[in-house]
Amino acid sequence: MSDFLVELGKRPAARRLVERLGLPLSLPQTLRRGDGPWEERPLGNWKVVVAASPGSKLSAALAKTLAAAGASPHIASGEDAPFHELGEAYGRPALAVDLAALPVGFRPEAAIFDASALDDPAGLRALYDFFHALSPVLARCGRAVVLGCPQVATLSAPAAAAQAALEGVVRSLAKELGRRGSTAQLLLVNPAAASRLEPVLRFVLSARSAFITGQPIAIEASVSAPAEPPLVRPLEHKVALVTGAARGIGEATARTLAREGAHVVCVDRPSDEGAAGQVARAIGGSLLAVDITAAEAPEAIARHLSERHGRVDVVVHNAGITRDKTIARMSAEMWDDTLAVNLMAPVRIDQVLEKGGLLRPGGRIVCLASVGGIAGNAGQTNYAASKAGIAAYVRRRAEELRVHGITVNAVAPGLIETRMTAAMPRMILEAGRRLSALGQGGQPVDVAEAITFLASPGAAGITGAVLRVCGGAFVGA
Ligand code: NAI
Repeated sequence: MSDFLVELGKRPAARRLVERLGLPLSLPQTLRRGDGPWEERPLGNWKVVVAASPGSKLSAALAKTLAAAGASPHIASGEDAPFHELGEAYGRPALAVDLAALPVGFRPEAAIFDASALDDPAGLRALYDFFHALSPVLARCGRAVVLGCPQVATLSAPAAAAQAALEGVVRSLAKELGRRGSTAQLLLVNPAAASRLEPVLRFVLSARSAFITGQPIAIEASVSAPAEPPLVRPLEHKVALVTGAARGIGEATARTLAREGAHVVCVDRPSDEGAAGQVARAIGGSLLAVDITAAEAPEAIARHLSERHGRVDVVVHNAGITRDKTIARMSAEMWDDTLAVNLMAPVRIDQVLEKGGLLRPGGRIVCLASVGGIAGNAGQTNYAASKAGIAAYVRRRAEELRVHGITVNAVAPGLIETRMTAAMPRMILEAGRRLSALGQGGQPVDVAEAITFLASPGAAGITGAVLRVCGGAFVGA
C-alpha cells in the first residue's frame, strides 16, 4: 500500500508549502536505497568527516575502509597519518577540516567519530563538538557513525560510563536525523576485531542500510573470518535456503541473495508453489514446495540440499505467520500454528541440517525475529512468544556454533510494507509508519539487504545479534 506522505514529500513544492505554513506535519524523506549488486566503490567521492578520541587503534582500519570504498576523507581531529598515506595511494588525499569554520556549502555525506579509546566522560565533549557542527550540514540520507568499545564489563567505571553514553547519543541522534532520511549507528569494535570493521562499516555507510538506525552493532573476533572477504559478489558459489520465499520479505531476500551470486533454494507451502516457482525461475534458483511444519519437512529439505548440492552455506528462516487475537479469544489452534511456523520449524530444520553435517564452516543462519517480539503487542501473545523465542535461540545457537566458524543472527523488522501489513487497520498502519525515526515504513528489500549482509563472509564479526530493521521505531524496549 503506497504511503501518501512519502509520495507528497517527493514534491518540492509540497515540502515548501508545509514549511511556509508551519504545519505540524513532517513529510518523510524518500530514502536512498541501493540498487544493483554490491560495488567496489560504494562511496564514490563521498565527503566523509572523521574525528577520533586520543589513543584510538582503529585509525588504520578506518582509513583503509574509506579509501577502498572511494570516499574522500576530511579529518577533523585524531591521528591523520593513515588517512594521508592511504588517501594518496588511492588518489584521494585526505583533507583537514576545521569544525569551527566549515566551508560554506560543505555538505558531507557521512560523519564518523571514533570513540573506541574514550575512557573518561570528559572526553564526550569532543563528540558534542563534532555532531553539533556536522549534524546541521549532513547531506540528506547521510550517515552518522560512532565507533565504541564493546567490553564495558572489563573497563574502569569512568571508561564504562563514557562508553555507555555513546549509545544514548546515537539513539537520540537517530531520532534527530531521521527527518532528513539520515541514520546513526554505533559500531562496538572489539580491539581484536579491527580487521573485521571494513565490511560492516561499508554496509552501514551504504544505501543498503537505509532503514536501519539507532543500532548498537557489536563486532567480535570469536568466529573465524576469511583474511580478505569479497567486497563484490560476496555469495558467489554459495548455496542458500530461504523459507517463505514466495512473496514479501522472503521473495526480496531470495532475489537479493541471488543477485550477489548465491544459488537459492526457495521453500514455500505447496499451496504457494506457483508464486514460489516464479521467484525460483526468475533468479535461476530451485523450488522446494513443502509446508515447514509438516513432520517430514526437515528431512525433505535436508535430502534436497544433500542430493542437489551436498551442503548449504546460508539458511534464512523467514517463513512466518500471524494469528492475532487477545489471549482470552485466541483458539489453541491459533497459538499452536503460530508457534509451529515461527519458532518450532526453524529449530527442527536446524537440528536435521546439523545432524546431516550440511551446514559447513563459514555457514550463516539468519532468522526473522520482530520488533513485536521485543516490545509485545496486544493480540499477539502467540506471535511475540515465537519471536522472543527466536531472539534467545540465535544468542544460544551462536554460542554453540562459534567454534565451527558459523554465525547465527536474527533481523527484527519493524513495520515493513508487505501483504501482512496491508491487512492492518488503516489507523494502526498510519500510526506505525510515523512512529519510526524515519517517519515511514520500510520495504521488503530493506530487510533483504540486511539479511544478505549478515549472510556474507565479511559479516563474520557479528554473531548472536538481533539487528533491528525498523527505521528507529524504538517502542517498548
Ligand atoms: P508474508 O505473509 O508476505 O510472507 C510469508 C511467506 O511465508 C509466505 O509466502 C507464506 O506462504 C510462507 N509460509 C507461511 N507458512 C509457511 C509454512 N508453514 N511453510 C512454508 N512457508 C510458509 O510475510 P512477510 O511480511 O514477508 O514476513 C516474513 C517474515 O518477517 C515473517 O517471519 C514475519 O513474522 C517477519 N516480520 C515481518 C514484519 C512486517 O512488517 N512485514 C515485521 C516483523 C517481522
